[in-house]
Amino acid sequence: MSVISGDFRHKTTIATIQEKKLRREPITCLTAYDYASARLVDETGIDMILVGDSLAMVVLGYETTLPVTVDEMLHHTRAVRRAATHALVIADMPYASYHVSEHEAVRNAARFLKEAGAEAVKIEGGQNRAALVEHLRDAEIPVMGHIGLTPQSVHRMGGFKVQGKSLEAIDRLMNDAAALEGAGAFAIVLEGIPREVAAMITASVSVPTIGIGAGPDCDGQVLVLHDLLGLTFSKPAKFVRQYADLRTAISGAVRAFKDDVEHGAYPGEDESYHLPGDVAEAVEASLRRPAR
Ligand code: KIV
Repeated sequence: MSVISGDFRHKTTIATIQEKKLRREPITCLTAYDYASARLVDETGIDMILVGDSLAMVVLGYETTLPVTVDEMLHHTRAVRRAATHALVIADMPYASYHVSEHEAVRNAARFLKEAGAEAVKIEGGQNRAALVEHLRDAEIPVMGHIGLTPQSVHRMGGFKVQGKSLEAIDRLMNDAAALEGAGAFAIVLEGIPREVAAMITASVSVPTIGIGAGPDCDGQVLVLHDLLGLTFSKPAKFVRQYADLRTAISGAVRAFKDDVEHGAYPGEDESYHLPGDVAEAVEASLRRPAR
């Protein structure tokens, strides 16, 4: 059975996203990694859901995004795709799934469309990935680029650091964006760069830029859902706006359950099933009969 419905009437498409840039309408994107959260996100009418490899950190508990595998990303993408009837679903290609050879990269990317129902993939890198973006485009795989603070380069960068702070680095980022646009990327994530640089890139390319820690002048914004919900365990980055405190809410609910069970307050009468009246009477009568 296909994972794709084939009904695009209510679906955000690549064209929808690109038209939004032309109309100067802000593009919205959030990450999601499972059915329940993706469904809640999708029901708000958000434009795009990114099954980000950030799941390695916020869901699987790794210190970086590097360990998550293609099979793990496929598993989560399938769950998200089952929930998303409106948003464009983009799967993040994990580290080492597109770094070894272009042949392997196209094969891995195709799995996200074919086996998980993703409608696009995201890869990190600029000029160094332009040839690959072209190959993916030739294989009918829409690609979102990602430049600036690219978490898969954490060791090369020496940590999760803001990028593009020198004239040379700005020049490199401008060329990265132009190379991705030229190669056919349908959008570009700008992560962890000064807002002035993001504004220059946004003005210089025809494809939408989606910012995260890149200021307000991008064509759209993306956040990691767990950051927005307050469901992480380390100090959030400066750019994160926490719209809820689910960590406290979940802790409170779990503590209340534990307390109720320990004090015999759960389950209550209303939360218990009962035998039908006639069966209950028969059971009672059999209990009253003296044993032979
Ligand atoms: O993996 C991710 O969540 C991302 C976003 C931060 C853009 O790449």
